[in-house]
Order: sequence, then C-alpha cells, then structure tokens
Amino acid sequence: MHSAAVLGLVLLALGASGLDNGLVRKPPMGWMSWTKYYCEIDCVKHPFGCINEDLYMAQADRMSKDGYRDVGYEYIHIDDCWMANQRAPDGQLVANATRFPSGIKALSKYMHDRGLKLGIYEDIGTKTCGGYPGSATHLKTDADTFASWDVDYLKLDGCWIEEDEMPEQYENMEGILNGTGRQIVYSCSWPAYLIDQPQKQDYKLIAQYCNLWRNFDDISMSWSSILSIINYYDHNQDRQIPYNGPGQWFDPDMIIGGNTEITYDQARVQMTIWSMWSAPLIMSNDLRTVDEESKKILQNREVIAIDQDPMGIMGRLVANTTDLGVYVKPVVPRDTAKNTTSYAVAILNRSSSKKHSVTLQLSHLGMSNAEGYACRDLWELSDLGTFRPRDSFNFDIKPTAVQFIKCSLPNL
Ligand code: GLA
Repeated sequence: MHSAAVLGLVLLALGASGLDNGLVRKPPMGWMSWTKYYCEIDCVKHPFGCINEDLYMAQADRMSKDGYRDVGYEYIHIDDCWMANQRAPDGQLVANATRFPSGIKALSKYMHDRGLKLGIYEDIGTKTCGGYPGSATHLKTDADTFASWDVDYLKLDGCWIEEDEMPEQYENMEGILNGTGRQIVYSCSWPAYLIDQPQKQDYKLIAQYCNLWRNFDDISMSWSSILSIINYYDHNQDRQIPYNGPGQWFDPDMIIGGNTEITYDQARVQMTIWSMWSAPLIMSNDLRTVDEESKKILQNREVIAIDQDPMGIMGRLVANTTDLGVYVKPVVPRDTAKNTTSYAVAILNRSSSKKHSVTLQLSHLGMSNAEGYACRDLWELSDLGTFRPRDSFNFDIKPTAVQFIKCSLPNL
C-alpha cells in the first residue's frame, strides 16, 4: 500500500482510540512561566519577574498587542508556586493572596477579554514539585474549583505520587474533569516520571486519558538542553510516532526562543524540530523584552503552519550522521485521489563548530510524485523552485543551525 494511504489508516485508528473531548485538535500554542521564572516568589526583590498576577497580565498584554495571538499563540499558563501554602478550611485550593490579590477567576477573565485562554498547574500527588498542596485526595474539589474559575487547561504534574498509582489517578482525573462540564485541556506529566522505565510508558493508554503529555526532562535555558530533548525523541521515535495526532500530543517542553541564552539559529532549530514533531509551541521568555529578530522567529507563520498542520503527524528522522539529522513530515496539501502528499523537510546540523554541505535526492526522502514539488525555504521565506524525485537539494548548513523547507504538491 502507498505510504500516504497507510498514514490515512493510522490517523483513523488514532482518532478512534485517543481522548475524545474534542479539544486541541491542533497542538496548543501559548506562553508558560516555568523555564523563565521558575518558582520566584520574592516580589520585593523581583517586582517584574515573580510569580504573581501582574506577570501573567503583562505577558497577556504583549501576547495580544505584539502579534503573537494573531499567529496562533493562545494560552497563558500559570505554572507552579501560585498557591497559598495551605488549602482553605473547606478544602479548596486558594491562590497566594499577596501575589494574586484579584484571584484566579479574575485572571481568567483578563485572558478571555483579550481572546486568550488560561492554563493552570497542579500535581496529582500529595504536593506539587515546588511543595505546594497537591491534588491527591482532592481531585474532585480541585477540578470543580478550576472549572468554577473558568480555567481552560490543566497541567497536572506527577511529583509526590507512587508510580504504580499514576495510571489510575490520571484516569480518574480525566473522568472528573469531563464531569465538570467545562472544556479543560488535560496535560499529564505521567510518562516524564517513567523515563528510566520505557516499558511502562504506555502511550496507547496515556493517549486515552490525556490531551498531551510531557515525557522527558524539563527543558532549561541552553542549547545542550534542546539537543538532549531532540536526541531523546530521535531515539524513541518508533514508540512515539504512532500515538501523536489531533487531540493527543507529545510535549517536548517549552520553546525558549526569545531568551538571550541561545542564538537566533538555535532558536530556529528549536522552532523547526518542534514543528516537525507537531509539538505544542509554548514559549517561556519575557515577551516584554523579546527582540525583533526573535519575534520574527517565534512568529514565522509558515513555520507555525507546519506545526499546526491538520494531519498532526510527528515527523520522522530518516537519515542520521554524527552531526546531521534529516527529518521528513507529511503535510497538507494532499491529493487523496492520487495518494500523494506534500512534505516538510528539516536538516539539522548539531555540530557546534563544523559547517556542513548536504546533498539529498528527493526520492531518497520518500518524495516520489512524478510531477515534482514546489519547494520553499521556510526561514528565508523564498521559493527554491520545482524539484522532481530524481533532483537533489544542496544546502550549506552552519553549526547549530537548520535548513527548513516545505515541498508542496504542484497545482493544488
Ligand atoms: C516539574 C515540571 C516542570 C515544572 C515544575 C514545577 O519539574 O516538569 O515543567 O512544572 O515541576 O515545580
């Protein structure tokens, strides 16, 4: 059978098995506080960079005014350390009153008034990773609380729980969230706590309960961290690719472009590879200080379109050397009658010192449409011309940089 037909079948099968709450049919896009601000709660020392309502409102303002919302970024995510140290006497979670004097419901209204959505963080264990009250024995109370605050997305972490209890508890919470009647995207950190036991990372099961899931280490502000995530996904792609699709996404963690710790080329690499995976694009940076070049990278509509491709396929590493990785992802437009599809292709140079010249014949990448493809450089935003299966691409790729192209079926 032709590979495009096989893909179609795989997608049908996915649709039937995954969590079917109708949410995040495309990978979510947004902004999250963790990697930039961690658990900074000293608002006296850091008045513009601590976990308080002003921070989330300020980022939401930039998100709507600086064009991010218009290219698809939508969720503002509160991460850990937003809570008071104790639950209220009635058992409800409460936000820290000094840092969130208006409360979370006011914050979700702030987001909704600007066409944005609010995400919140909790933990399925007895405490959050930062030591705040966990949901363990309060799943129903907390789900009801989040729904009553008009929260749109829950990142449910997995600190402070016995590993064997995770499947049942994460499943319970899915039913409880559904029962609130509010549409809440459900992000589970479950498999991220099983990195050393891959046999227990049961993605088929996880996809039945969760809209997305973290499955590897936290990203930090460095190129080496980006590379370690890419390396992990490369090595595990055969286990992962079948379970990624509309409504069920692998989450390789936050986008760190817009921070000065990485170069522009490295920021392009991260946006490229995350888009090739159809991964969530959730930035962690300070949108107030992102420079123009980074903004262009984060807002590149043609790159984002690859990420948001409606088929939601996780691209595949098809060729690999010490320094180079070549990735291919089927994207629209497709020609269903002829079983042909367009492709995104990314060539990554992981080396920190060596430039590489690369020649690749299209047919070797699985691109066999006889009439060829109209190819475009997605970072230069320029047309490269028409390429037939026997033709080759030639690219020079700088160290820690990427070549990213889309080759579309012609005349569609
Ligand atoms: C874990 C998660 C991070 C962040 C912190 C908060 O480490 O993986 O993304 O939410 O907890 O404490």
